Amino acid sequence: MTVAAAPTLDRGVLAEQNKDKRETLVGMLTKAYWMEIETVMSYIANSVNPDGLRAQEVIESLNEDIQEELGHAQELAQRIKELWGVVPGSMDFRPEQTYLQPPARQIDIVHVIRGVIEAERGAINYYNQIAEFCDGFDLVTQDMMVTILRDEEGHLRLFEGFLRELEA
Ligand SMILES: [Fe+2]
Ligand SMILES: [Fe+2]
Repeated sequence: MTVAAAPTLDRGVLAEQNKDKRETLVGMLTKAYWMEIETVMSYIANSVNPDGLRAQEVIESLNEDIQEELGHAQELAQRIKELWGVVPGSMDFRPEQTYLQPPARQIDIVHVIRGVIEAERGAINYYNQIAEFCDGFDLVTQDMMVTILRDEEGHLRLFEGFLRELEA
């Protein structure tokens, strides 16, 4: 009795012919993972530091966003593993969010709002790039990125509204 050979994967991100693209994608997901981790750090600091009545809505929103960004980091990490990558250790971390450092005066909530807007725009640009890169060969990662994108667009919209009110 002969055993039929398992079929080879002839399409999708795990197929042998997509190895190079898959490795590039793992690199992109790793960068996105670090972006989420840094955002969690920045949002924790900026959800605690601000003083003043006007800061309270921002603090509440950041508290919610921290949980969502943490969830994104976990999803990205899981996907890296599924694509035969390895989630990096903390020694590989390189900070980039110069615009989300604590302001000189903790009452300066506009500084925080502008920083959040910059972080969210950066995430939206990069996640669109990843979703486009996935076109035609990794619908699963693409679907995940589209879902995360919707969260980031919601965060951006909320903080744009805060800025509009404070600048009025
Ligand atoms: Fe996120
Ligand atoms: Fe976000």
